[in-house]
Amino acid sequence: MSGLNQMPREEGLDHSVSLMREGYMYIPNRRRSFQSDIFETRLLGQKAICMGGKEAAELFYDNNKFKRSGAAPKRVRQTLFGEKGVQTLDGKAHFHRKEMFMSLMSEEGVQRFIEINRNEWEKAVESWLDKGEVVLYEEAKKILCKSACRWAGVPLSDEELGKRTDELSSLFESPATLGPKHWKGRNSRNQMEKQIGRLVEQVREGKLLPEEQSALHVISEHKDLEGRLLDSAVAAVEIINILRPIVAISIYINFTALALHQFPDQKEKLTSVDDEYVQMFIQEVRRFYPFFPFAAARVKEDFTWKDLTFEKETLTLLDLYGTNHDPELWENPDVFDPERFNGKTGDLKYSLIPQGGGDYNGGHRCPGEWITIEAMKVFVDFLINRISYEIPKQDLSYSLVSMPSIPNSEFKIESITWK
Ligand code: HEM
Repeated sequence: MSGLNQMPREEGLDHSVSLMREGYMYIPNRRRSFQSDIFETRLLGQKAICMGGKEAAELFYDNNKFKRSGAAPKRVRQTLFGEKGVQTLDGKAHFHRKEMFMSLMSEEGVQRFIEINRNEWEKAVESWLDKGEVVLYEEAKKILCKSACRWAGVPLSDEELGKRTDELSSLFESPATLGPKHWKGRNSRNQMEKQIGRLVEQVREGKLLPEEQSALHVISEHKDLEGRLLDSAVAAVEIINILRPIVAISIYINFTALALHQFPDQKEKLTSVDDEYVQMFIQEVRRFYPFFPFAAARVKEDFTWKDLTFEKETLTLLDLYGTNHDPELWENPDVFDPERFNGKTGDLKYSLIPQGGGDYNGGHRCPGEWITIEAMKVFVDFLINRISYEIPKQDLSYSLVSMPSIPNSEFKIESITWK
């Protein structure tokens, strides 16, 4: 099968090194230089298609055209994702597993998270009052780890907090690294899967009784389409799929603090304007700052799109960061401007895609978007309305190469008092 046109192609044997070297800008740089939203290259020793923009996102989320099995590279499965989790499923099996995740994200579920999270921030701020300086990234990770475990019904003692936070963080800090950091991520995953797998067994044996609506209970008791309980190792992968990304919200917490520092007029607007503005501000933080560079899938069957040929099994990357900064979709994309979301609630399904695009049910869009946004709102409230703090001199620059990107100094604050 051949299309009439040819995709622009990056010549050469393999460009994985360029991807590591250019990070978030690897796909946007080539979209710009090829003057094309789609191009072919070679990554990880295989042919790959990279694409970005609204139409490309719509195509990428068409389940008839793309699948997820075999898409995530091994190093990502060994750290970030785990094996046989929802990210790697397709069709009915995916739909059914995703329903389980969505059932945790009911209004009451999200509200329960907000209350737990607010309570953990309160306790943390209390403990900061007599400390000179705190590193926000490290503190936020611990606060979110406690919130995640409480919300998910996973027991966590004070003694375990440091280790658990460290293990969960290394899962999202390590996928794009080499050497010791990557090995630490793999090791953490092995350890955590064993621990959590044991908890699942205890729930099933009636030795541990988490609340019925908690992730630990729901996932331990979830049955697949054949009516069987999940293998305890797979259940552990899915529980970690809840805990890990909640801890990762610490990255957005850091960028939220950075936005308030970089754009001081926002502080004033957030105090004086209504709740609608807080939502717009948070959407802009998620659009503007880097998080996941791209999402990966494989072509399901040969097809042609705009006269371009997509061959079965070809690895395909959707440019998340670049789509959030696409000049075709966003006026002055590199300007931080929450007002761009004023009155714009619909029509963002394939353009504001920091947590994926398309639909939740049946699609792979992140089920944690509400929790992420609400956790950011809780933090904004503390920073704007509840506490006073100073920002010491530090290196707040962040890289568009290392993935995930975090401000270099991890945002230090000092002289913290209640307002
Ligand atoms: C920290 C901020 C977060 C970011 C930037 C983020 C980003 C993403 C992205 C890019 C995807 C993949 C979309 C795709 O494959 O097309 C995803 C999927 C997923 N996320 Fe999140 N996420 C975040 C928070 C959360 C939270 C808080 C949870 C759970 C409480 C969560 C659970 C998941 C799950 C289970 C999937 C797989 C969905 C599927 O394959 O159907 N995420 N997320």
